[in-house]
Amino acid sequence: SKPLNVALLGCGAVGTDVVRLLIEHADDLAARIGAPLELAGIAVRRPEKVRDVPVDKSLFTADGKGLVTKEGIDLVIEVIGGIEPARSLILAAFENGASVVTANKALLAEDGGTLFAAAEKHGVDLYFEAAVGGAIPLVRPLRESLAGDKVHKVLGIVNGTTNYILDKMDSYGASYTEALDEATALGYAEPDPTADVEGFDAAAKAAILASLAFHTRVLASDVHREGITDVTATDVASAKAMGCVVKLLAIAELSEDNRVGVRVHPAMIPRSHPLASVREAYNAVFVESAAAGQLMFYGQGAGGAPTASAVLGDLVTVARNRVQGIRGIGESTYAQLEVHPMGDT
Ligand code: NDP
Ligand code: HSE
Repeated sequence: SKPLNVALLGCGAVGTDVVRLLIEHADDLAARIGAPLELAGIAVRRPEKVRDVPVDKSLFTADGKGLVTKEGIDLVIEVIGGIEPARSLILAAFENGASVVTANKALLAEDGGTLFAAAEKHGVDLYFEAAVGGAIPLVRPLRESLAGDKVHKVLGIVNGTTNYILDKMDSYGASYTEALDEATALGYAEPDPTADVEGFDAAAKAAILASLAFHTRVLASDVHREGITDVTATDVASAKAMGCVVKLLAIAELSEDNRVGVRVHPAMIPRSHPLASVREAYNAVFVESAAAGQLMFYGQGAGGAPTASAVLGDLVTVARNRVQGIRGIGESTYAQLEVHPMGDT
């Protein structure tokens, strides 16, 4: 088949590894998709910046809108983050007939409904495995594999930066600031790490997980949220003395009468609990459903390469759909359930 044209929006921690994998795995990707991928352009804030990516400098542009509306763009990868200009660029991409892969949990948890409706209207795909749990396949299992079951609880660690900070404080007695600086240098933290440490990032992910698990729409603003900024070295040491570890948990529950409760807060976990052994920027999520019982998902929850792995996985699917002239799965919201920040379960 003829090459598929890919536009990349953003070339930071995640985008850099997306470019690297697109190039390193080009032949494998072409074989899996049934057509080669052609990188048509990369939109960034500072196109003149020197970057460690093996592509011609002429591909970089500050004109994201011009790139996604260019004739012949088949696929758009959005790894800019935040609400705007990401939302307008994704909507413009749909308008131009392109399918989109995004890692943008903040946008999905604030205005996912608008994006899904636009994708539906234009008959294109919107995939977002990288938005929750980095490399861990979690979105698709909830969206697809468990679609025939009844999920009633999702619980786990969904923010790598805060887990890294809490782990370093617990294991090495690192200071909060020292550990946050390390997480930022490793590419785990959001551009504004307030999103991580105040629990906004985990709340957005919890909202997405709850929406997928319970087939309803939960927004980040529906989630009860407490971050880790009030967790002190003394709290961590006291937990340790009690045989516990402090973790930032995300919990989404569906009550017997179909009310949804979603919350994010630090909690003391006994060291014998599997979540206590989740170290550094790893994430782990338990899903409980009626027929499957308990499932556990574990892996690298942040970082350029792990996240790029999930992005590329989605890219293969939406590209293959395009070659075959089909659409993938759309939004699986069937009913708007009552949502209460703390739930009543
Ligand atoms: P970075 O801040 O490292 O990169 C953001 C990129 O977007 C940069 O290349 C920046 O350009 C570009 N950009 C910013 N504003 C604009 C704009 N107005 N127009 C065009 N380009 C712009 O972010 P990350 O790579 O860490 O994150 C990207 C997305 O992936 C976010 O949605 C994040 O939540 C998500 N994500 C991140 C993970 C991680 O571990 N880092 C894991 C999972 C998801 P320039 O380089 O010129 O500044
Ligand atoms: N800042 C996020 C985290 C990136 O630390 O988990 C992964 O979504």
